[in-house]
Amino acid sequence: MAPRAKFTGTGMFVPDRVVTNDDLTKLMDTSDEWIRQRSGVVERRYIEEGQAPADLAQKASERALEAAGLEPADLDFIVLATLSAHADFPGTAFFLHELLGVPEIPCFDLRAQCSGFVYSLGVAKSMIEARQCRRVLVVGCEVHSTGLDLSDRGRDVAVLFGDGAGAVVLEANENAADTAGLLAVRLHAEGRYAKKLWIEAPGSGFTPVRLTHEMLDQGRHFPRMEGRFVFKHAVKRMPEVLLETLDAAGLKLQDVDLFLFHQANLRINEYVAQQLEIPADKCLHNIQRYGNCSAASIPMLLDEAVREGLLRPGRLVSMTTFGSGFSWSSAVARW
Ligand SMILES: CC(C)(COP(=O)(O)OP(=O)(O)OC[C@H]1O[C@@H](n2cnc3c(N)ncnc32)[C@H](O)[C@@H]1OP(=O)(O)O)[C@@H](O)C(=O)NCCC(=O)NCCS
Repeated sequence: MAPRAKFTGTGMFVPDRVVTNDDLTKLMDTSDEWIRQRSGVVERRYIEEGQAPADLAQKASERALEAAGLEPADLDFIVLATLSAHADFPGTAFFLHELLGVPEIPCFDLRAQCSGFVYSLGVAKSMIEARQCRRVLVVGCEVHSTGLDLSDRGRDVAVLFGDGAGAVVLEANENAADTAGLLAVRLHAEGRYAKKLWIEAPGSGFTPVRLTHEMLDQGRHFPRMEGRFVFKHAVKRMPEVLLETLDAAGLKLQDVDLFLFHQANLRINEYVAQQLEIPADKCLHNIQRYGNCSAASIPMLLDEAVREGLLRPGRLVSMTTFGSGFSWSSAVARW
């Protein structure tokens, strides 16, 4: 029988700097009321000067390793999901590789935006089940704050996002009597909507150069989003893929103990839960405190769930995402 990919450790890290909605009103024409009502966000964290994405990823990873009772040298593979990489190349995973001091194991960044962490779980699961590796570190890490348009022009997007990192260790579980592990993962994409939520510059799609002063003046290096369009697709795709994944695992909605949704907007998640008749006490959110941390949102939630005692051995957890691409995904695991 193929081994199962079992979660053996979780960790998260957010910078100390708290930025409240009121703080943002000093930079742009917005209000605490507007932000809370539309998105649920109350505050978020921003990095301080000198902090880089890999620093956040390192702290989250070290906590996950400690929880798993492992050393960096025990790992044999690292997948890091991000849309706000440390550099154009190489991936943030390589900077993390150095900071962790792991041996010459492979690592790479996976780019599937807010669905990146669950996509990475899918990769790790396949690698473990195919016996390509036994101990995988999966990280979600974002530094959005340095890439937001914190003026009136970018206010629709800027108020939603924050910085943070989350990490998990997945290990091969060969014990047939132990049913813990990832039971099913389902991934989807619809590239025709790639430009509905994106940062276009700098990009190799531009000739003769990737970035010009004119593009900077036009703010084309900042994220742009058709908010309502994204909202409509998110509330359709998230229930679809959640049910598809449970079905693939032979489970029903009622079997699941905890639902984790990507933290893009509390209203999206409440709408999804309502459509599926999921009781509010089975859902955990942290968007109020951290905003949308894209690929880091789900692993941060997983770590909080473990620390709050919501994920004890035997419990079933469902994780569902929607994001730029468009990309959407879901995973279900027995803890
Ligand atoms: C972004 C979002 C919160 C905006 O809410 P909305 O109800 O759709 O709001 P709209 O974009 O229609 O804007 C409504 C008004 O608020 C204004 N507004 C936009 N951002 C604002 C801000 N930060 N503060 C105050 N007003 C703002 C708009 O200019 C608009 O004004 P107008 O009516 O005078 O034109 C919502 O569309 C959303 O959450 N979409 C999905 C986001 C998402 O999931 N993204 C990430 C996926 S990873």
